[in-house]
Amino acid sequence: MINSEAENPERVVSPRADEFSQFENKLRPKIFDEYIGQKVVKDNLEISIKAAKKRSEGLDHVLLHGAPGLGKTTLANIIAKEMDVNIKVTSGPALEKQGDIASIISNLKEYDILFIDEIHRLKPVIEEILYTAMEDFGIDIIIGKGPSARNMRINLPKFTLIGATTKMSMLSAPLRARFGNIYKLQFYSDEDIKEIILRSAKILDCSISEEIAIILAKSCRKTPRIANRLLKRVRDYADVKHKSKINISVLNEALESIGVDKIGLDNMDREILKLIIDKFKGGPVGLNTIAAATSEEQETIEDIYEPYLIQLGFLERTSKGRLVTEKAYNHLGFNQPNLLK
Ligand SMILES: Nc1ncnc2c1ncn2[C@@H]1O[C@H](COP(=O)(O)OP(=O)(O)O)[C@@H](O)[C@H]1O
Ligand SMILES: [Mg+2]
Repeated sequence: MINSEAENPERVVSPRADEFSQFENKLRPKIFDEYIGQKVVKDNLEISIKAAKKRSEGLDHVLLHGAPGLGKTTLANIIAKEMDVNIKVTSGPALEKQGDIASIISNLKEYDILFIDEIHRLKPVIEEILYTAMEDFGIDIIIGKGPSARNMRINLPKFTLIGATTKMSMLSAPLRARFGNIYKLQFYSDEDIKEIILRSAKILDCSISEEIAIILAKSCRKTPRIANRLLKRVRDYADVKHKSKINISVLNEALESIGVDKIGLDNMDREILKLIIDKFKGGPVGLNTIAAATSEEQETIEDIYEPYLIQLGFLERTSKGRLVTEKAYNHLGFNQPNLLK
């Protein structure tokens, strides 16, 4: 088994949220003006919101999809704030029974927002109820049993559903079809991540120059959540060892101490690449083989480790399996064997 940081909840470059992150909430943009990047999504949402407000209507249902840490939850909260309505937050796995969702929606006020995170994990019985709730703002329930049973419709307030998912492909077509607005969040440019770092640094009252922020940005895997987390670690390091000043040597030392390199790879990423290179001549090798060799779940490799390696062009998914690219060999300082070319 290779040294798995997946089991370590402290994996610094994980895009997933920490369980109770006060820190994250503190840095969360509250209005569109503070939300950096994602221009297309932002522009479209702003127009939809202005139009809805002008007509004194609720907003059409919104589906946000994209990798963890790119700002879906943040956007949902901003939409509520800009619409000037309440937001009720829940998640796909948290909704067990039809009654759960029925009572949540019944308690909303007109135009309020229901935010369902991880909406691809809804149970089918809940999803079914959502269809009529989203379309007709009603829920059909059956009263009584046997021959005397009858259907009754309960009217619901005109609410707006905002769904968020990291796995668009797992969302059923009928549910997807009921969203008037579907937006994909993209990974951020290094320039946008730099802006996010500078904004967060200001809130955290930590001193970092633009020049250093752009260098740090390159290690943040194009993901705001990771940017904030790395900034925090670098700040802590500087506070303890260097009288709070973040200069280039402090930055390098701090990143080295947590095992993150200049392009944001950590030990686990490097070990996966090295394993494919050493044991499988760079691939192609099947996902199940990689999983077995690393003692990881296939799903963990696929969802947690591969996306960024693929995004960097270090790993390719081919019909024959995973292939390590020349770019990755170069980054790791290995010679690519000729037979692969
Ligand atoms: N566009 C952005 N501008 C500034 N900070 C952002 C942006 N998007 C996300 N963040 C920060 O990243 C963190 C994670 O965002 P979040 O909305 O929770 O991601 P998701 O729900 O997609 O996993 C938040 O604390 C927020 O401060
Ligand atoms: Mg979220």
